[in-house]
Amino acid sequence: MLIDQYERKVDYLRVSVTSRCNFRCQYCMPEKPFEWTPKEDLLSYEEMFSFIKVSIDNGIKKIRITGGEPLVRADLDQFIKMISEYKPDIDLALTTNGFLLKQQAKKLKSAGLKRVNISIDSLEKETFWYLTKKDALAEVKAGIEAALEAGMFVKLNTVVIKDINQFEINDLYNFSKQKGIQIRFIEYMENENAFGGLKTLPSSEILKELEKSHRIKELPAKENSAAKLYQDESGYQFGIIEPYDDSFCKSCNRIRLSAEGDLIPCLYFEDSQNIKQHMGSEKGLENVLKEVVFNKPEKNKWSHNSLNLNSDQELSSRAFYFTGG
Ligand code: 5AD
Ligand code: SF4
Repeated sequence: MLIDQYERKVDYLRVSVTSRCNFRCQYCMPEKPFEWTPKEDLLSYEEMFSFIKVSIDNGIKKIRITGGEPLVRADLDQFIKMISEYKPDIDLALTTNGFLLKQQAKKLKSAGLKRVNISIDSLEKETFWYLTKKDALAEVKAGIEAALEAGMFVKLNTVVIKDINQFEINDLYNFSKQKGIQIRFIEYMENENAFGGLKTLPSSEILKELEKSHRIKELPAKENSAAKLYQDESGYQFGIIEPYDDSFCKSCNRIRLSAEGDLIPCLYFEDSQNIKQHMGSEKGLENVLKEVVFNKPEKNKWSHNSLNLNSDQELSSRAFYFTGG
């Protein structure tokens, strides 16, 4: 079992298979062009798998494949198969922008993928393009359908940005509800890699928007869920992810492996340890895993207070396309 110094049990590993992406979401990527890590510096699937085996053997129960956009890395289904064959009852999930899902959903399901979270930030073509810099609303909708048809359990993710998609909260909610899919609204986590000037809509405002047409109640949080769970008068359930709230860190059970091999204990801070030098040694991998888990920071520094004051709060320098959200 993996336990950190604040007695949080860590049983969830997020694995980024690439930091590349076919979108340029404003809240994730810089406006200016930048260089990708050369492919030869990435971990191979075999290297990732050797770390995953050690992680599973030490108590990891849930693995989520992330990016960048994970579906742009070739043969992802084979990587998923390696994991699900090693541990068929593992909770194995993927987070994707959905663009390539129509082509890959069936293949991924057959490989053992059970759950998929798809990002959708707008239902309006223009706003979708503006936020993601890709004219891809139709493809993403087709991706959602393909995942459902393939029999995967689907959730939708929406990052809510003040003055950009905040007016679509009810539309996105109705879209998800109609399909019987849970949507999670995510507070935008400020970071210095994203486009400048973006502000989150705080969860209280997200709720206010929904309460215009619904009676909403908060449900008891699922253990270790990053999202707070809510239910409307019809029984439809949705989530809000509130990284600005202390409970987000108190229940944190996650660590992240980047495509370059950095094992990252927290989404906010730059700290990490690279696992490449321990390849070939199970003991070495196990030690680095335990050390990174033990030294997980207590909490991030996102705070609504500093947002409200508009102070020049120190920004997180962690890039979401690198850590995988
Ligand atoms: N704040 C909040 N969520 C983010 N994501 C990416 N960048 C950010 C950010 N700055 C989320 C996306 C996607 C997942 C990969 O991470 O919504 O669902
Ligand atoms: Fe790509 Fe996801 Fe970042 Fe958007 S949030 S640019 S889809 S990695």
